[in-house]
Amino acid sequence: PAEATGVAHAKVILLGEHAVVHGAPAIALPVHGLTLTATVTRTDRPLWIDSVLYRGPIASAPELLAAPLTAITETLRHVGAPATGLAVRIDGEIPAERGLGSSAAVAAAIATAVARSHGVELDDAARFDLTQAAERVAHGRPSGLDARSVVSETPVWFQAGTARALPSALGGVFVIADTGLHGRTREAVGDVAALRTAEPDRVAGILTRIREHTEAAVTDLAADDRASLGARMSDTHALLRELTVSNAQLDRLVASATAAGALGAKLTGGGRGGCVLALADTDEIAAQVAAAMRANGAERTWMLHPEDIAA
Ligand code: MEV
Repeated sequence: PAEATGVAHAKVILLGEHAVVHGAPAIALPVHGLTLTATVTRTDRPLWIDSVLYRGPIASAPELLAAPLTAITETLRHVGAPATGLAVRIDGEIPAERGLGSSAAVAAAIATAVARSHGVELDDAARFDLTQAAERVAHGRPSGLDARSVVSETPVWFQAGTARALPSALGGVFVIADTGLHGRTREAVGDVAALRTAEPDRVAGILTRIREHTEAAVTDLAADDRASLGARMSDTHALLRELTVSNAQLDRLVASATAAGALGAKLTGGGRGGCVLALADTDEIAAQVAAAMRANGAERTWMLHPEDIAA
């Protein structure tokens, strides 16, 4: 085909970030309203990339683009095509480095589009492997949660590399608030590992409590028990603070969301920046929660209704 596209969407982690790196489960929600598209055109020139960050031949692309470039070259290798003759354009609205999965979404969209430009439809396993190859360049040792979530139609239960669709009857409204600060996933993941080595018993206790909330949330989702889920979110934020992955601005947004009537709120993703996820019972309360978080410094907010996270 002369032109091929691939699409992936953002994700938020409902519960289990960081603990998932140490073998615990996590639950992620797809954000269907925030997408990213890779468009690949066959050309007779060398490999070319066109994004907000850089436009030019990939041979002289900046280090910043190392992960997307890995997705391009690994996918070409996977389909047995030469590393030449493609222009890759990336368009999207997922903000980068905010814990919303933008790096995995870029890689998944690129892998899908590059394979399609050579007439190949990737299966889930191949797309996951290619996305993970790029994620390893971006993040070091990614659990694979993001790579699964950014192409999932439904909420995802993820543990030890395996994902399954999670049924949800949850009503209410999630509010995502962007601190505007770049998250520092790689650094935060490294610091948790160091803390675990330094204080194994205390950290094991924290990780166990995060795991218990994540496991019990499955019942909350199925039974639409928003009050219970909200309480688990807030308690998990306190546990993530103990793991040192929150910061003053995340704590401030979480406190303002709760004060404005949220059922619960927590940081989402790697932490130290990025986004907060709050749960509200109704649209009206969600609007108040969003306004409170913006008044306390959130750069942007998004609403997530049940139909935005389900198939
Ligand atoms: C990042 O979105 C989630 C973390 O658990 C890291 C990972 O799962 O690779 C912090």
